Amino acid sequence: MSFARIIGTGGYLPSNVVTNHDLEKLVDTSDQWIRERTGIEQRHIAVEGETTVDLAEQASRNAIEAAGIDTSEIDLIIFATSTPDKIFPSSACILQARLDIHGCPAFDIQAVCTGFIYALSVAEKFIQTGSARTALVVGAEVFSRILNWEDRDTCVLFGDGAGAVILQADEETGILSSHIHADGKYENLLWVPHGVGDGFDQVKAGKAFVEMRGNEVFKMAVNTLGRIVDETLAASDMKKSDIDWLVPHQANIRIIAATARKLKMSMEQVVVTVNKHGNTSAASVPLALDVAVRDGRIKRGELLLLEAFGGGFTWGSVLVRF
Ligand code: COA
Repeated sequence: MSFARIIGTGGYLPSNVVTNHDLEKLVDTSDQWIRERTGIEQRHIAVEGETTVDLAEQASRNAIEAAGIDTSEIDLIIFATSTPDKIFPSSACILQARLDIHGCPAFDIQAVCTGFIYALSVAEKFIQTGSARTALVVGAEVFSRILNWEDRDTCVLFGDGAGAVILQADEETGILSSHIHADGKYENLLWVPHGVGDGFDQVKAGKAFVEMRGNEVFKMAVNTLGRIVDETLAASDMKKSDIDWLVPHQANIRIIAATARKLKMSMEQVVVTVNKHGNTSAASVPLALDVAVRDGRIKRGELLLLEAFGGGFTWGSVLVRF
């Protein structure tokens, strides 16, 4: 069985930046509150007409270039998003056509902020079993389109963006283990309560927005991520001290710091982008990975722990020898 190795990463953010001060003009909030409670200073927000697949296409092209492959080598596309351009075709199929790739399997995964971890885990199985050799795995979102910009509890937290990786079969090293979980009983702690199921009436009325019980989500996220760290290390017989980099989902700096404490890692070993990106849901882990690969912090041979928690609830982790 082959390993699935990350041979290239890419990211893309809309050029439009919205600062906390900009949000002070929209809702009753303050730069100080947002920074202290979340660590967020700014986020990128797609402009009218700019879609999830637009962002994903740029991130994918950057990853393909970094991997040094030709698009004709890609034989699997998995696209994690909760904000697809259309109900169908899938964002993966739209992206496939834009990249002029034809015939390989292409499908979306919907696991909200854990989407990219789910997508990576599924792609790993395809490669391990020989069903694919070179996979494009993308996480991309325009969460700004499902936010109520009058709700200060949620609109200050999220941003738009896309991240991508190219995975390729490798005999020696790559993803060491992946772990994905869900528990649907927590549905209404973090959800968009309307959609196709109610005939789109609420969507058309402009009421299909993210709703969240932030405090309860916060506690669940910290406890669950703590557990998955143990599960991941045990599966590969690794110690906390073996990990070189934590590449966490970027929802809140306090959640990230709690996971780092659990791993006894200093914040210097943690990739943090939440300050500049906000929570970009499925895009947050691949974007953070791309930032730290491109600025030279993450080097070949190092051990990375990727993890995420999100709506569903869903949660998961991937241990990678880079
Ligand atoms: N600006 C100013 N005040 C705000 C605010 C904002 N944007 N949003 C909420 N508040 C207020 C609340 O109304 C509350 O006021 P009250 O004490 O008068 O009732 C106060 O701030 C504290 O709210 P609380 O929700 O207890 O704050 P918190 O410390 O839990 O932080 C979150 C709120 C949302 C930042 C935090 O709960 C969180 O990050 N949760 C997890 C979110 C997450 O990760 N979601 C995605 C998972 S993938």
